[in-house]
Amino acid sequence: HHRRPTSQSLQGKTVWITAGPTREALDPVRFISNHSSGKMGFALAQAASEAGAQVRLICGPVSLPTPVGVERVNVESAEQMLSASLDGIQHCDIFIAAAAVADYRAAEVAEHKIKKQSGKDSLALSLIKNPDIVATVAALTPDLRPFTVGFAAETRDVIEYAQDKLARKKLDMIIANDVSAEGIGFNSDDNAVTLVRPHHVLTLPRASKHELARKLIEHLAAAYYDPAT
Ligand code: CTP
Ligand code: CA
Repeated sequence: HHRRPTSQSLQGKTVWITAGPTREALDPVRFISNHSSGKMGFALAQAASEAGAQVRLICGPVSLPTPVGVERVNVESAEQMLSASLDGIQHCDIFIAAAAVADYRAAEVAEHKIKKQSGKDSLALSLIKNPDIVATVAALTPDLRPFTVGFAAETRDVIEYAQDKLARKKLDMIIANDVSAEGIGFNSDDNAVTLVRPHHVLTLPRASKHELARKLIEHLAAAYYDPAT
């Protein structure tokens, strides 16, 4: 089913979107990751492209087809996602961080496969914090800094935590979702979100990720062009 774009609200704009999980190696055959499907980021990429934007998807390992007309950059780790996100950022007008970036990675990646130790019933992993990609982008100097949008997946106090993240990471907008609700969020086809901005909060009703993505892009474009709306 094809739907003709209803508006070209992002005509001529460059939109970059991070999507999917990251993969943090432990050794040559193992990694830490999460269940992010990448669906929301890919749906946003398609909607932004249909709204006339030039779109780059910077994505971790996902099994989704690249939306038509969208440029795709594949990465694995958070560090790779960060460098891909900064490479040419001066051309980016709107940066949307939809990726589920691993918060931590192994302090040291073993050069060879970690062997099971006989006589040891436990193994402790030492982890270090990954760079925060969206906060790094939002902290760029004004000449480089795009309009910066983050996501917040929360299981409680959704709006409070989102407002806290918005302020802490100095973002222009947070798309917050309650991942504790049934049948929405992470791996699902449906989602319900609240848009949190410094002086506005707007809840959008539950819809398919594709329908929601189109609505999100319209609200995002309005906020980009007129921060007072
Ligand atoms: N994010 C990022 N880089 C990271 C971690 C998160 O760019 N290293 C981005 C995500 O893509 C998302 C936003 O930050 O847009 C919020 O991610 P989330 O995991 O909800 O926030 P955290 O700051 O990691 O806090 P916590 O996981 O403790 O809730
Ligand atoms: Ca996190």
